[in-house]
Amino acid sequence: MRKLVAGNWKMNGTSADLAEVTALLATHPAPGCDMLFCPPATLVSRMSCLVRGTTLAVGAQDCHAATAGAHTGDISAAMLADAGASHVILGHSERRTDHGESDAGVRAKTIAAWRAGLIAMVCLGETGAERDAGETLSVVGRQLRDSVPEGATAANLVLAYEPVWAIGTGRTPTLAEIAEVHSFLRRELAARFAGATEIRLLYGGSVKPDNAAAIFALADVDGALVGGASLKAADFGAIVTALTTA
Ligand code: 13P
Repeated sequence: MRKLVAGNWKMNGTSADLAEVTALLATHPAPGCDMLFCPPATLVSRMSCLVRGTTLAVGAQDCHAATAGAHTGDISAAMLADAGASHVILGHSERRTDHGESDAGVRAKTIAAWRAGLIAMVCLGETGAERDAGETLSVVGRQLRDSVPEGATAANLVLAYEPVWAIGTGRTPTLAEIAEVHSFLRRELAARFAGATEIRLLYGGSVKPDNAAAIFALADVDGALVGGASLKAADFGAIVTALTTA
């Protein structure tokens, strides 16, 4: 399967930062993997125009579960598709924490994303306390069961395992711990969905140029969801290079 390196810009970036996109495309015009940037919603349209005809796709970071209506400040999946997005991140731990998003809510948003023709990038992962309590597999298993609706395929779903305690901290699980969760998620997917071996499983949480190659070499790791290191073309490009040489 073709792997995917995705960048989640979170609440970072204004039009001046589109220069990073141009710089990345200059150094990685034919990267040997799929590349995706998920900028803030304000940049989706402009970035989509900028990358047209290149190997870089554009996604969003959230959508509303409804098609339209009285939801001040929210954005529907169809609006994101109209702006040029092909993917949308759903259920990121920062949204689960900051906005109280539940598995059921993420599930509803995933259905909305599919209705609009978007690829849903559903995030799951345990907190530090849950890992310490030995609950990692039961937590991610529950999140997978309750956040991902029936009908998932390799064409409409990307799953991202992002341990909450590894996000933005510079700490990562051991390679064995990442491998354990990814092989568990693969088995859980296979129990529910035909073609599950082709559904991309990304690892996210403090992925950097210097640890990317070792993580990408693991079985069942089909790419990465990168936060901080996606903001600079040089760092993101180094991670893309690590993936294509792993
Ligand atoms: P960092 O790479 O900054 O740890 O963020 C990971 C993440 O949350 C991507 O969605």
